[in-house]
Amino acid sequence: MKATARAHPNIALVKYWGKRDERLILPHQSSLSVTLGPLSVTTTVEFHAQRGDDVVQINGTLARDGERARVVSVLKLVRREARAAGRRAPGLAHVTSAGDFPAAAGLASSAAAFAALAVAARVAAGLPRDVRAESVLARQGSGSACRSVQGGFVRWNRGARADGRDSYGEQLFDAGHWPDLRLLVGMVSREEKEVKSRDGMRNTVATSPYYPAWAKDAEVEVKRLVPLIRRRDLEAVGELSERNAWRMHATAFAARPPLCYLKPETLSVMQACGRLRKQGVGVWFTLDAGPNPVLLTSARDEARVAAVLEGHGAASVVRCSPGGDVVVS
Ligand code: DP6
Repeated sequence: MKATARAHPNIALVKYWGKRDERLILPHQSSLSVTLGPLSVTTTVEFHAQRGDDVVQINGTLARDGERARVVSVLKLVRREARAAGRRAPGLAHVTSAGDFPAAAGLASSAAAFAALAVAARVAAGLPRDVRAESVLARQGSGSACRSVQGGFVRWNRGARADGRDSYGEQLFDAGHWPDLRLLVGMVSREEKEVKSRDGMRNTVATSPYYPAWAKDAEVEVKRLVPLIRRRDLEAVGELSERNAWRMHATAFAARPPLCYLKPETLSVMQACGRLRKQGVGVWFTLDAGPNPVLLTSARDEARVAAVLEGHGAASVVRCSPGGDVVVS
């Protein structure tokens, strides 16, 4: 009863920002992301026959408190699913998880970690592979993780059911669809962000007067984005992604207390993007709930864009392209 899974993180082009159900992690709106290869997190789950406390080790350290609780809650759901499928309920679990990208990459690893955990835990429990069930499970660890079970371009369908069974990540185009696309993560700030995504989005939903407009707009933007990705239109995808990032952050600025994830260096990279475009370089930015921008560009302009990131204070630049599905071993 042991399995290992490896998953890539993802960057949203239309962001998920706000839950309609905190417990099940159901979003107010759909979102759309691309997985970031070659970065990955590998997670091994081993279930034992005996009962007892689960042991969770992340990047070589025993997980505690909230971090451990989130993993344990996913394991609990797997045991329940195994029992419902008529299998012997798995006992205590040993979980080890490690990312191959340093925290210095400026990227959250939780999406990849929970996608890998969901797949490894289901396989270890003897459940058959089922990408939808895996995505629904990953979502309950961290929302954006439901978009990392499959590679390439994945849409998280909002869904309408109260039980969340129709709220999952669905691959629209696989990793091979757009091999020329590059996503450059620039680490402009090493500071730990003050407000975690989970708390920031909760506060935005509760207090930003712009929140309903955000949710409505994002749903429409997801629909607009699909044909642009289909025809690999970098300019149109870049423009839409950039304005969606501005809109998410504008909604967060208007919360009480206001939420600002940007650092001066972040803004300087964003402005440099605009200047580069005027010089004929195809580059657009997106920004999650943190200070480190991700730049969308093509293989042709990759080196030039990396140099601009470095010139604006990025301590490291991680060069990515669309990554594949979760791999089980
Ligand atoms: C800004 O998925 O980390 O990166 O569901 O509370 O675990 P929880 O939040 P999380 O939030 C991600 C927010 C985002 C946008 C996105 O990835 O879509």
